[in-house]
Order: sequence, then C-alpha cells, then structure tokens
Amino acid sequence: MAYAEQTRLYYQNLLQDIDEQGLFKNERIICDRQGAEIQVQYPAGSELKKLINMCSNNYLGLSSHPDVIAAAHQALDHRGYGLSSVRFICGTQDIHKELEARLSRFLETEDTILFSSCFDANAAVFETLLEADDIMLSDRLVHASIIDGMRLAKAQHDTFKHSDMKHLQKKLEMYRDRPRKIIITDGVFSMDGDIAKLDEIVALAEEYDAMVFVDDSHATGFMGKQGKGVHELCKVLGKVDIITTTFGKALGGASGGCASGRKELVALLRQRGRPYLFSNTLAPTITMTTLKVLDLLEAAPERRNKLASNTKWWRTALSEAGFILVDGDSPIVPIMLYDAKLAQAFAQDLYAEGVFAVGFFFPVVAKGQARIRTQLSAAHEQEHLERALAAFIKIGKKYDILGKNKAELLNIEV
Ligand SMILES: Cc1ncc(COP(=O)(O)O)c(C=O)c1O
Repeated sequence: MAYAEQTRLYYQNLLQDIDEQGLFKNERIICDRQGAEIQVQYPAGSELKKLINMCSNNYLGLSSHPDVIAAAHQALDHRGYGLSSVRFICGTQDIHKELEARLSRFLETEDTILFSSCFDANAAVFETLLEADDIMLSDRLVHASIIDGMRLAKAQHDTFKHSDMKHLQKKLEMYRDRPRKIIITDGVFSMDGDIAKLDEIVALAEEYDAMVFVDDSHATGFMGKQGKGVHELCKVLGKVDIITTTFGKALGGASGGCASGRKELVALLRQRGRPYLFSNTLAPTITMTTLKVLDLLEAAPERRNKLASNTKWWRTALSEAGFILVDGDSPIVPIMLYDAKLAQAFAQDLYAEGVFAVGFFFPVVAKGQARIRTQLSAAHEQEHLERALAAFIKIGKKYDILGKNKAELLNIEV
C-alpha cells in the first residue's frame, strides 16, 4: 500500500502535536466582501456573525471599492479570464507591459517585472541576482517569504540585529571584500509594524558599496506623501536597488506582486527568475484592475490621509486605555500580551464582542512575544473604531491587564 496506515498515523500525530501545543490555525469563514465590517462563520457551519474587521491588509479600503470592482468587470470583458501560459510563451498582454511601466513611474524606479505574488518575487530575486561568493545581510525580522527566497540562493547569508545599524555596519565591515553585498529588509515589519531605517541603510550601502533590497508589501500605496512607500518616506527615492511588493494588500487586495528597481536587475529576472519563467502569468483582471487602483491612488490622497488619522486615533486611544503597544506610525498596531494563552483567550473574547482580530504567538512571533495584531483601514469609520475600542477595554478589564507592565501581564492566570 503506497500510503500505509503507518504513514497516515505519522501525519495524524504531527497534526495532533500542533493542536496540543495550541498552535492549530483554524480558518474563519467570511461570507461577505472584504470591508470594515464582515460576516463571519466561526466555527464553520455556525451562525453568521457581523464583526468589525481589525485584521485585514485592506489598508486603503480598496478591496471592495465600486470603481475597483467595475474595473475588474471591464478587464474580464476586454482581456478575458485567463491566459493559460507563462509570460514568455503567450502570457504577455499589452496591459502587463502597461502595468510594469506604470509601476516604475509610481515607484520611481528604472524598470519593473510582475509576478503572481510577492512571495514569488522574493523567491526569484536572490537566486537570480547572486552568486556563491556574494553575501546577503538580512534584518532578523524579515518576512518568511524573504527567508525562503534566500534559502534558494547560492550566496552566503548572515543577519543583523533588528534595525540595529551599528550591527549592520559591523557585518558590512566583516564582508567588505565580497564581490556583491546586499542589505535585505522589510519596509514596514509585518509583526511589529515598525518602519525600517531606510535612510541609514542606504547611507551604509553607499559607504560599503552594497545593494539594498526592500520588501515594501506593508507600505506600497500609503507610506510617504504620495504613497510610494518607505523609500519615499525616508527620502531615498531612486536609491533602493530592488523593491518587491504585493498587490494583495493596499492595492486592491486580490493577489499579484512585482520586483522593481535597477533595469539590469529586472532584465536578469526576466531571463532567469524561476517563478517568472515557470509559473502562470498574472491574471488579466488583476493586471488591469491594479492600473485602476494606481489611478485612484494618484488622483486622491484622501484614503491615505484617512488611514493616517485612523491610525493615530487608534494608537492614542489604546495607549491611553493602558495597553502596551509596539511604538510606530504604521497602521499595523500590535497590542502586547506576551503570554500565548492570554492572546488566544483575548482574541476569542473579541470575537464574542463583535471584533475580528487575531492572536499571534510562537512560532509566528518569538516566544514570550504573544500579541493581538490590529490593522487599520481607510474603510474604518470613527464609529467602528469606538466600538472596537470599547470591546478591547471591556476585555482588558476582564483580565485586569490595563495599565500593567510586561512582568505583571506574564503573571496573569487565564
Ligand atoms: C512583508 C511581506 N512580504 C511578502 C508577502 C507575500 O505577499 P503575497 O501575498 O503577494 O505573496 C507578505 C504577505 O503576507 C508580506 O507580509
């Protein structure tokens, strides 16, 4: 028997282990469009519940915007549903070239290449651009997709302490003689919501003749005055060698991504990037709709401004209520609870109170760093935020955690 009972048992035990450690991830079934309020079924099959959504990456509230939906319908009519091909066989339409050019203009880079996801872009970059003698220096908190991308490369890998420029400089000194050095960071770190010190990173890169790679998935569309990303915010436009980003968050939230930067690097990715060469082209609907999303972004700053003011209000209100937050300015606002059980219980209570936010604990974050991660959206109205805050305070009082420090939180019995 190919799939022997023993094999089945092995996998069943693995799953049981995950469950017993309290790490099993259950999906909440959303029976609705993405938005500030959504109807959720949890557990599957139970009654639908209307919740305020505090955990989506729908930063600009564009996932269900009527103009975005209309553009997607139009795209379907104009360019069809699928292309049944990779890019270099018969999967490149005029709109793919148009979107690549448009993204280069928006991000102020030399050239851009589309991928089916940012995960794919990150899987392509390092293997394609680096050789065995080269060195990849990554921040210790970069996203999992970057870690996987680096694993595929022949180049040597080392890390620097999170956002620690002295440590980065030490490492650059250590690897000074490598033919190519690349500093690798997220623009906004997805678990803590803090922003990379990109101006300092670029200055070090210039001093040590290194390239800079930024994954700006949690910034494209809203960070910086025109929403170009962390390179705009940190005033280093044109100085980041390669930026990867996703269309699956602020830019309409469907899927897709790109790598954008120096033209030689992008050209090489087109020749050798394996997820580009061996995976299907980006669907026409997403390609054309992302063009519309860029129109909306460039025409009106209101959504960016609303996201910024919602973020400011939420951070201030939670701090004043006595929660411990990770400092920062991004719309990712983690509420630190430190204890995994407490984070799980808190998230469950939030659900009962009509708020959708998820508890994160090891291995998603380091041990002892459990938290509820909240994310703001331009789709949130003041009324949503006030209701969500009331729920957080009610549950905070239930567990007696308001105004407590880390040591006190770790002593709370759940
Ligand atoms: C920082 C970062 N990079 C890359 C990705 C992957 O993006 P995509 O969903 O387009 O594959 C994510 C998604 O969670 C992310 O947070």
